[in-house]
Amino acid sequence: MAELLKVSGVCSGYGDVRVLHDVDLAVNTGEIVCLIGSNGAGKTTLLRTLSGVVRQSAGSITFLDRDISGSAPQQIVKLGVVHVPEGRRLFAGMTVRENLLMGAYLRTDGRAIINRDLDFVLTIFPKLAERLNQDASTMSGGEQQMCAVGRGIMANPMLLMIDELSLGLSPKLVGELSKALVEINKSGLAILLVEQDVATALKLAHRGFVIDTGRMVLSGLTHELAKNGTVREAYLGAAAV
Ligand SMILES: Nc1ncnc2c1ncn2[C@@H]1O[C@H](COP(=O)(O)OP(=O)(O)O)[C@@H](O)[C@H]1O
Ligand SMILES: [Mg+2]
Repeated sequence: MAELLKVSGVCSGYGDVRVLHDVDLAVNTGEIVCLIGSNGAGKTTLLRTLSGVVRQSAGSITFLDRDISGSAPQQIVKLGVVHVPEGRRLFAGMTVRENLLMGAYLRTDGRAIINRDLDFVLTIFPKLAERLNQDASTMSGGEQQMCAVGRGIMANPMLLMIDELSLGLSPKLVGELSKALVEINKSGLAILLVEQDVATALKLAHRGFVIDTGRMVLSGLTHELAKNGTVREAYLGAAAV
């Protein structure tokens, strides 16, 4: 598998406050990788750094062997790295269709291909097809998350980064969204999934990284992480084996 994203020795933070310390992470083509860790560990900060919203102070980020450290957010989206933010952040007062099409606003590959991708999103999330003309902000939390993921797909990414897929959603909806992510991944997209719900993340992803107070402390295949004593004790609520 080819290496899609490679993060080496990245430090970043806000002003003088350093949040990420010497962080390494990699995502290969075709993979679902999860990034797990407690509240405040630095997961969102890492995604925001990868998106170019937060500036790194050290280290390198390459995407398809191209150095994207310090690139502008729109440039990073155009290269194929798209961030579905925590809390959905849909455009209120705009319909579901308009929200989905906003995801495609930087694209220059033509209406026909954009419409094909819209059809793909509606196949993955049939609930959105029934609500295309509804104000997106009036939908349930689960439907809004579907719309946020769909908007991300409309940007035609190679790597979709999703921050807290399951936050605030019922187990049934988390199941639906998880199934959708597997389908999206099978269509060829790599996914970097950030989750506080460690059990869900380990089930969905092929490999995982564990971040603790801004440092990567563990990584590996998810079926191995799920058996790891530290992971079980700290994140799965089980006694260490
Ligand atoms: N805009 C910000 N300004 C200053 N500090 C922040 C900001 N956003 C997050 N932080 C701090 O960075 C640390 C990591 O936060 P965050 O990346 O949101 O963690 P996570 O997503 O893992 O819950 C926390 O200590 C948090 O208080
Ligand atoms: Mg977060």
